[in-house]
Amino acid sequence: MCGIVGYTGSRPATPLLIEGLRDLEYRGYDSAGVAVMSGKGDLEIVKRAGKIQRLDDALDGGERTSATTGIGHTRWATHGKPTDMNAHPHPGTNGHVVVVHNGIVENYAELRRELSECGVTFSSETDTETIAHLMERAMDRGLDLASALRETAARLEGSQAIVAISPSEPGVLAAARLGNAGGVVLGIGEGENFVASDLAAVIPHTRHVVFLADHQFARVTPGAFTITGTDGQPVGTIDERVVPIDPMSALKGNYPHFMLKEIMEQPEALSDTIQSLVSVEPPEIRLPDLGPAADQLTRVNRVVLIGMGTSLHAAMLGRYFVEKYAGIPAEIDNASEFRYRDAILDPGTLVVSVSQSGETVDVLEGMRVARDAGCLQVTICNTEGGQTTRVADGTVYTRAGLERGVASTKCFTAALVALYALALRLGEARGHLDQETIIERIRALVPLPEHVARILGAEQALARVARDLSQAQNMLFLGRGGAFPVAMEGALKMKEVSYIHAEGYAAGEMKHGPIALIDPGFPSVVIATRHALRNKIISNIEQLQARGGRVVALVTEGDNEIEELCDDCIELPPVDQTLEPILATIPLQCLAYRVAIIRGCDVDQPRNLAKTVTVE
Ligand code: F6R
Repeated sequence: MCGIVGYTGSRPATPLLIEGLRDLEYRGYDSAGVAVMSGKGDLEIVKRAGKIQRLDDALDGGERTSATTGIGHTRWATHGKPTDMNAHPHPGTNGHVVVVHNGIVENYAELRRELSECGVTFSSETDTETIAHLMERAMDRGLDLASALRETAARLEGSQAIVAISPSEPGVLAAARLGNAGGVVLGIGEGENFVASDLAAVIPHTRHVVFLADHQFARVTPGAFTITGTDGQPVGTIDERVVPIDPMSALKGNYPHFMLKEIMEQPEALSDTIQSLVSVEPPEIRLPDLGPAADQLTRVNRVVLIGMGTSLHAAMLGRYFVEKYAGIPAEIDNASEFRYRDAILDPGTLVVSVSQSGETVDVLEGMRVARDAGCLQVTICNTEGGQTTRVADGTVYTRAGLERGVASTKCFTAALVALYALALRLGEARGHLDQETIIERIRALVPLPEHVARILGAEQALARVARDLSQAQNMLFLGRGGAFPVAMEGALKMKEVSYIHAEGYAAGEMKHGPIALIDPGFPSVVIATRHALRNKIISNIEQLQARGGRVVALVTEGDNEIEELCDDCIELPPVDQTLEPILATIPLQCLAYRVAIIRGCDVDQPRNLAKTVTVE
């Protein structure tokens, strides 16, 4: 949710922190702040409610200070309104320590009461401030910054990521990851080091990174870093890795919005993902990061797929792939429900988690439940070294590059390809698919990026449909079979970025309630392609029209019969049946984007949303 960045080195810290916060702004954007410190320990804290630009204006670009160490924060409010006072960083009473924080201190009321009884005065409504005061009191008792953080961490309930500085230790950053409230990644530079919530703020400077694991602490100086456990002892092995992300991919380029850029990047994202997961010649399902899970797929007799939001929609389609190609029962579950249900799990169950960030707290907690039940786990993830990849037995990485638009687009379609490849591999491992079918299924993927490019090349044709839809207050998205999850995703994209109320339904459900809403002002977008149980969809369309409802249909090229029935048609190239839903996704993403722009919405930072949800 919130974004954290820290820098220690010899360059001016403030502009670097501001740049880092802009890179993380998709994680939260209701207030922002920095605390910077010179080599002599002179401290300056500036924070503002609102977007990062307001902070930047207040800092005047930040070039004027000589500070070379600092921490910054972009906030998604949990405790306390988004005001200047509640913005991070938060200092202790005497400014001996300053902290930024992501997560929720669940026992903060109790800690606040205890600190107040000791005479501490609070200047904000946040839970974070308790951390600053606890750390300051520990330092005033003689502990160094890193030890004060470890001691304080032991008092906190809930999951947190914390970075702190202290004027008594110029050039030192202390960081902690406690639980699943968000990642902490160290960026290892030359004579300078970075700490951040995720890779986006680090890769413009270095691709050498270390992810902190749960309950690990880091002490970082310009030339070194140490990682310890809760006992203060250095951890055994440090997994320093070089991330395969082109720093240029973090830039918007000539596009007005990240969302549009990322929609347009899908041919490349799909092509890179396909090439990394399968080979056509020789035909092979590679999945190079399955690790120990690879040899255990034969024992799998059931699959449970979990995720949240867009990733849950990917999991829904993943279920169809698993049932079809692996021939075993598959279920999907919203990770936030799964983790609290008494889910029936056993060692024969494969739990597949889908998470582009690898950091979503409910997914990670769901994975903990699965691990406790002895399940085999595979995660579909777009973030090299993301936390889900550290918990799972194996990973299927999507190669979509950094996704910065809050509304997920390219990572959704890339996850669908990854789930398809995993289902094939399961089918192969369990002897459910013969070699001929596997070859045919791998080949079916090959033309996919080109088809997506074709649809994107013609997306200007959606302008008029988008103009009409932008007038609506409500919309229905309908699909059957594999198109049902895509209808859900189309509705989610529409509501996220345009704020039009939209619902995705299985088309068969339409008569069981939603049809009561239909009138001339309530349009429906219907996925009516050749394979989407077309004849049944035709009767849905007729029923909508009989109630005066306006219908926009996605159809297979040349399907004149449906074209005549509908108010507007969007054509898709004919493709393999199983992969058709991936193509159907593309115009729905484009429509959501276009409608949002017409309505003047901020598509890259929709209100109330944050890209990575690390608190419950
Ligand atoms: C919607 C969107 C969210 C995410 C969800 C899960 O456009 O981006 O619904 O899909 O928060 O995030 P990850 O995939 O990072 O676990």
